[in-house]
Amino acid sequence: MHIAASAIAGRDALGFLTKAARKAQRLVVCRSARSIWFYRTLKDPIKPVQPGMDVEMVFLAEDKSGLIAWLKENSRSFPWIYIEKEVESALANGHIFGCVRRNDEIAGYVKIGIGPTYIHDFGRTIRFPDGVAFIYDTFVAPEYRGKRIGLYAVSGALNHLKRAGFKGVWCHIEEWNCASLKTFMRAGFTEASRIRFMRVLGMPLYIRGDGRPMMKLEPLLEARGRASYNRGQ
Ligand SMILES: CC(C)(COP(=O)(O)OP(=O)(O)OC[C@H]1O[C@@H](n2cnc3c(N)ncnc32)[C@H](O)[C@@H]1OP(=O)(O)O)[C@@H](O)C(=O)NCCC(=O)NCCS
Repeated sequence: MHIAASAIAGRDALGFLTKAARKAQRLVVCRSARSIWFYRTLKDPIKPVQPGMDVEMVFLAEDKSGLIAWLKENSRSFPWIYIEKEVESALANGHIFGCVRRNDEIAGYVKIGIGPTYIHDFGRTIRFPDGVAFIYDTFVAPEYRGKRIGLYAVSGALNHLKRAGFKGVWCHIEEWNCASLKTFMRAGFTEASRIRFMRVLGMPLYIRGDGRPMMKLEPLLEARGRASYNRGQ
């Protein structure tokens, strides 16, 4: 009887300690998904893309209100397409939204960050170097998928940025997202680094694929841009 009671007490104590350790870990480290960072120099030619249906693409720099209203409305089905802080950052920093339309309907879009850009996965703002843009969200409505509209939108964005004098473009894609990986690799993006983001005691920490930790992402973004310019890409 005495042995059984102390075994139960021991199990309770172990359960309590395990729960406490898990809670402490959650407070100390908060992880987000791993993503692959891709870079695309705009010195390389951009292949023309013929989408599988008639669509047109417009670029919204000043007035993005129509697309923003559509994002808000459709965020009931796709919550990540309308993030308030992301929209505020886009409006405050003159980001460009490329909108693909079929007749009067929105078929998809590409959001392009310039300079300071709020990244929802990190919950913070990253400043991109001058002359380098960042595609932070690409979306094709489900009924239009599989018709190369995503690739058409990304290539359209690259052409638009090249004409505007940009030298390169970054994007980041979660490792599981095959459709998106295919789209961006077909558009000429190449892998620059795999990044795991975590917060340790509230401080951001980025772990590169080679295991090296970084407190900031900006030096990586700048170094890659410089390396591409130096190689004449
Ligand atoms: C990623 C995305 C923009 C691609 O757009 P798309 O116009 O469907 O792209 P494509 O027609 O060129 O197809 C690319 C790949 O998507 C996949 N795909 C094709 N039809 C699809 C469909 N109906 N539903 C889902 N994926 C499909 C296929 O793997 C295809 O590759 P394949 O040509 O070798 O078969 C689109 O799938 C999307 O909006 N996904 C949800 C949002 C998202 O993940 N955005 C990217 C964030 S980084």
